[in-house]
Amino acid sequence: MAKTWQGRFKKQIDPEADKFNASVSFDKRLFKHDVAAGIAHAGALSRAGIITAAEGKKITSGLKKLLAMESRIDFSKYEDVHSAVEMELTALIGDAGKKLHTGRSRNDLVATDTRLYVMEDSALIEKELKLLLKALLKLAKKNTRNFIKGYTHMQQAQYVSAAHWAMAYFEMFKRDLALLSTFRDRVSVMPLGSGAIAGSNFAIDRAYTAKALGFKAACANSMDGVSDRDFAADFCYFSALSSVHLSRMAEEIIIYATTEFNLIDIDDSFATGSSLMPQKKNPDIAELLRGKSAGFMGNLLSVLAMMKGLPLTYNKDMQEDKETLFRSLDGIKSCLHIAARLIDNIAFKKDNNENTFMYSVDVADYLVEKGVPFRDAHEITGKLVGYCVENGKQFTQLSKAELASISPKLDAGMIASLNPEKSANMKKTAGSPSVKSVEKQIADAERFIK
Ligand code: ARG
Repeated sequence: MAKTWQGRFKKQIDPEADKFNASVSFDKRLFKHDVAAGIAHAGALSRAGIITAAEGKKITSGLKKLLAMESRIDFSKYEDVHSAVEMELTALIGDAGKKLHTGRSRNDLVATDTRLYVMEDSALIEKELKLLLKALLKLAKKNTRNFIKGYTHMQQAQYVSAAHWAMAYFEMFKRDLALLSTFRDRVSVMPLGSGAIAGSNFAIDRAYTAKALGFKAACANSMDGVSDRDFAADFCYFSALSSVHLSRMAEEIIIYATTEFNLIDIDDSFATGSSLMPQKKNPDIAELLRGKSAGFMGNLLSVLAMMKGLPLTYNKDMQEDKETLFRSLDGIKSCLHIAARLIDNIAFKKDNNENTFMYSVDVADYLVEKGVPFRDAHEITGKLVGYCVENGKQFTQLSKAELASISPKLDAGMIASLNPEKSANMKKTAGSPSVKSVEKQIADAERFIK
């Protein structure tokens, strides 16, 4: 592979060592960003009088030409994308190309390119996240009056609407959006001008390059600048956390689509069949969303472990950041995208299997309203449940006499009037599953998404 650094060596690098060392197979993805960094840097060099304006122009137009030639470049001839850009440029425009690397190093360049890539890609992730939020909102709007069992400890707890369920995931992914925005700020710091470790002997205007490349700022310390990979960990963490949210949602879709729950219908176009069992309709897409979270967590651990204990400043270990980071960024984009499509392709059914025990808190709270201390109300309602369990009855199947024998305080009329919708609507706190509260959540969400 052609080298930018052969001078001090008496021998060519061993072919196997060369191959092991090379990163071009995966960092050629940074081509566009390396060219952009080159154009900004050439501008700074010419502004500072380090190269002539004519040389600056030559380099800039050469780099622009190169950009259009990307598909024709044989990257495999080079160690990495940075060598490829510099050497292809020189082949294209002659000696002026040899001046581009003045006052920069691949150490500050690779960190700059990778950050630029992440900044660009994170805008695409944001788009996918917003599509998922919209899909959840749409699902919620269809289900404000569809009441389903809510669980704690995976035991039937209290009634909520399917809209409330969807809005719970809306909140999760809205948090992811906020996290993404924080991480987008954190990655927007430019290392270029840090050189290999100690900056440059040339007075390169770093504020100029930062602005030209769309960074919020230039890094404050050259040693940190070339060796900071927090942004890689940030985006792997973002992906891992989002994927954990996806996996929880996916798991619920999977169980709700079972015959046992019979609560969600997955459209045929988003389900799969069995090669043997003709009756099967499987939730493979949701299962993959659940399963893929493992890889995202692994990627995060991989970046953290790669950085742990690394001395300042650049170490070649850091070359390992890219494949992991790209895998996370590519993966989370595709997971978020398909998750939004999946949400568009599920429908909640009606839960016809009423469990009146789930009104227990409502019964107890009613007693509290009648002046019974909550602990006593809990005890009385507990006895009511116990009696029903023993006699295989629901609350609503008890006679007045049976209720009176449990406690004279129990109100047969109130108990008979309970149903899932009423139970949900008895909730008076903000953020609760009452129709009114969920409609407010939906209205707030609609304002947010606009
Ligand atoms: N391919 C390298 C990487 O990805 C680029 C920086 C190389 N720097 C060096 N001093 N060898 O990290």
